[in-house]
Amino acid sequence: MFITFEGLDFCGKSTQVKLLADYLRGKGQNVELIREPGGTFISEKVRRILLDRENHDMTIETELLLFSASRSQLVREIIIPLLKKNYYVISDRFHDSSIAYQGYGRGIDIHKVKEIQSFAIDAANPDITFFIDIPLDEVKRRRNKFEPESWDRIEISVDDFYKKVRDGYLELAEAENRFRIINGLNSIEQIHDQIVKEIENL
Ligand code: TYD
Repeated sequence: MFITFEGLDFCGKSTQVKLLADYLRGKGQNVELIREPGGTFISEKVRRILLDRENHDMTIETELLLFSASRSQLVREIIIPLLKKNYYVISDRFHDSSIAYQGYGRGIDIHKVKEIQSFAIDAANPDITFFIDIPLDEVKRRRNKFEPESWDRIEISVDDFYKKVRDGYLELAEAENRFRIINGLNSIEQIHDQIVKEIENL
């Protein structure tokens, strides 16, 4: 089963991804946890280019293609081979991030972004996608707990950008059955329980 997690920065995805992996491992399942952008030797190198704040001149097209390049490597090197071996593959972000951030957020034509994604991900379509939703003022509140110097190239984006990304996610979630919208303001335990229930149902 291929499970993906999506949401705005600071929504708590990474905590939930780890909890779910522990839960499934506890049940004796083979689980591989991956994070995007990254997850392979080549993809981690691309990740560094993408998040480096010195790269302020990066065009939005380059950004989209780099995220997609990192992903296509991950899909072919890790995700598809493990799914064939009946692993649970859990990804912290996947192609929906590009549709939400580069498409809805940066304003690249959505159809084009989706087309590039289908080329990048090949047959690796998620079985279920959790969108952990938090309102914008919560993103700001959580971001402010960290020093501004530590925010990456994407996290320094202005509020208007995050609003577009969130609206984009909500539109995607409405259009596709595989999405589950999770209230990211609930407690860590509540969210985890809800996610486990959804996986068991599936
Ligand atoms: P990361 O530090 O992994 O953030 P998070 O823990 O919130 O996932 O950085 C990933 C950043 O890249 C994040 O701001 C979202 C952004 N991103 C895109 O814009 N497009 C993409 O396709 C992906 C995978 C991530």
